[in-house]
Amino acid sequence: MLNRKIIGVDINEIALERCRDKVDFEHETAKGTVTIINGNAANLDFIKDSSIDFICTHPPYADIIKYSDGIKGDLSQLPVPEFISMMEKVANESFRVLKKGKFCAILMGDTRQKGHMIPMSFDVMKKFEDAGFRLKELIIKEQHNYRATGFWKKSSIKNNFLLIAHEYLFVFHKL
Ligand SMILES: C[S@@+](CC[C@H](N)C(=O)[O-])C[C@H]1O[C@@H](n2cnc3c(N)ncnc32)[C@H](O)[C@@H]1O
Repeated sequence: MLNRKIIGVDINEIALERCRDKVDFEHETAKGTVTIINGNAANLDFIKDSSIDFICTHPPYADIIKYSDGIKGDLSQLPVPEFISMMEKVANESFRVLKKGKFCAILMGDTRQKGHMIPMSFDVMKKFEDAGFRLKELIIKEQHNYRATGFWKKSSIKNNFLLIAHEYLFVFHKL
């Protein structure tokens, strides 16, 4: 609708099929193009260096929700340390393909293990900074529709912890 030339990348064919359905419409003012590619965000070798105007990505939060039954390279199969290592590659690839002066937005959340916070979004933020990005904005997104009923709500009262009710939208700048 914004007349952009978009490349959408996901490693899971089911997700890609859903995207194909969603972009399959016509509108008189919509003249953008969408190219959907089955690929791994850690290896974007089908995209040239410094050729992209904006990156927007929403990775899985390690293995909290599994998005596949075991697709090789699926970030949602990885425990936190391996996830962070793979996100380092995603950060390097994102930096490589983005044009100088442009922005990369990444939505990330945290998790809790054995009652304690694992602030993995900040580890991911660090990997993007190490790749060469500067943090332009850190936006907190309230999470209104999380499944807090049932298990997690009861568990949070019993074990005395707060439910995670936000995610971070990191906006990085390639200077
Ligand atoms: C939180 S969902 C986001 C889906 C969609 N992009 C959106 O924002 O609505 C995470 C997606 O990351 C995909 N994914 C997991 N590992 C990936 C990887 N290495 N490269 C590209 N996509 C990956 C999953 O298949 C899943 O569709």
